Amino acid sequence: MGINLKKIRADFPILKKKLIYFDNACMTLRPKQVVEATNEYYYEFPGCAGRSMHKIAAKVTEEVLKSRKIVQKFISAKKPEEIIFTRNTTEAINLIANSFKFKKGSKVLISDKEHNSNLIPWQVLEKKGVIKLVIVNSKSDNTLDMDDFEKKIKGVTLVSIVHTSNMDGVTNPVKEIIKLAHKNNSLVMLDAAQSIPHKEVNVKKLDVDFLAFSGHKMLGPSGMGVLYGKKSLLEKLDTFMVGGETVIDSNYHNHKLEKLPERFEAGLQNYAGIIGLAEAIKYLKKVGMKNIETQELILNKALTEGLSQIEGVKILGPLDPKQRAGIVSFNYKNVDPHQIALLMDNSANIMMRSGAHCVHSWFNAHKSKGSARASFYFYNTLEEVDAFINAFKKIVKFFK
Ligand SMILES: Cc1ncc(COP(=O)(O)O)c(C=O)c1O
Repeated sequence: MGINLKKIRADFPILKKKLIYFDNACMTLRPKQVVEATNEYYYEFPGCAGRSMHKIAAKVTEEVLKSRKIVQKFISAKKPEEIIFTRNTTEAINLIANSFKFKKGSKVLISDKEHNSNLIPWQVLEKKGVIKLVIVNSKSDNTLDMDDFEKKIKGVTLVSIVHTSNMDGVTNPVKEIIKLAHKNNSLVMLDAAQSIPHKEVNVKKLDVDFLAFSGHKMLGPSGMGVLYGKKSLLEKLDTFMVGGETVIDSNYHNHKLEKLPERFEAGLQNYAGIIGLAEAIKYLKKVGMKNIETQELILNKALTEGLSQIEGVKILGPLDPKQRAGIVSFNYKNVDPHQIALLMDNSANIMMRSGAHCVHSWFNAHKSKGSARASFYFYNTLEEVDAFINAFKKIVKFFK
């Protein structure tokens, strides 16, 4: 069954304005159902979970558990306590980087195309002498060099790798990566910030050990993220942020840690965000993850085709849109990508991203200032893609 774009777009009040939003890899728009769910928390039961005995607190506790189960089911995790609520993907990765019991000199393997959020936490550990960072190269078409991966996986403690790249939309062969890693006794964490919002991800089938994603890239409230971990592995982690909510009891010199997942959720939480994230997932499930993937591919095909006809455009990654999810990242001759994005906004109200997309390391290694990036979500339309191509053609004339 396809999607009813007219009905869907009516759920996003901002789409009534004359604008085209192609910056979904950064943050998606939010449907009114999500905003209403967060408002309901603030208006109807704005208390804290887990502590107070009164009815409002009981309602928050119940809603948080319900939300946790919705997230659990969405990614097919075995148990609700395998879902840790965080602020975002970045915090989830930092949680692992700071609580994993690395032996001095343990190897952590990443790709050469990581977002700063999956690079800097490891660099900090390397600078402290805790780990050694191993970097796997991409091939000339920006897909991961699996021969290099196979060579470098030996002796690695943890692979922490991007699932779908925010830079060019390329999805790594994570099933193969996880199999090879496990064969070599390495654990795997996926940075799933750009995969979970766009396609079905089943952590059980993948057998992935840890996985991080952000709610605001999938219709959810800002500042809401998730760390998934296999229960047996989460239980072995050290603490990260600690304080209220993370302990059952304490005296002046000692404390007894809470069970999972509270052990990792320090302080009072973003309850409205948690409830809003669950509502976002309900919405995505109604649309259907397969439909989302299909719609993004239709849009990617159309934009790829349109841009390919313009002399001087170079798309990052493989030309085949099937290999670039909902992302079209490109350069036009030597024009500064920020200039392209600014002109698209000023001339046609088209919002896109430009620059290094927090993957400075890759652009620096390739002596590039960055790219202009259009990123879709299922509510975008072919008419919007046409408008993008037309606006861009006008800009191109300006640079001739
Ligand atoms: C691939 C990838 N990883 C990590 C992040 C960081 O996400 P957040 O800022 O929500 O923590 C992003 C955000 O753009 C991303 O695209």
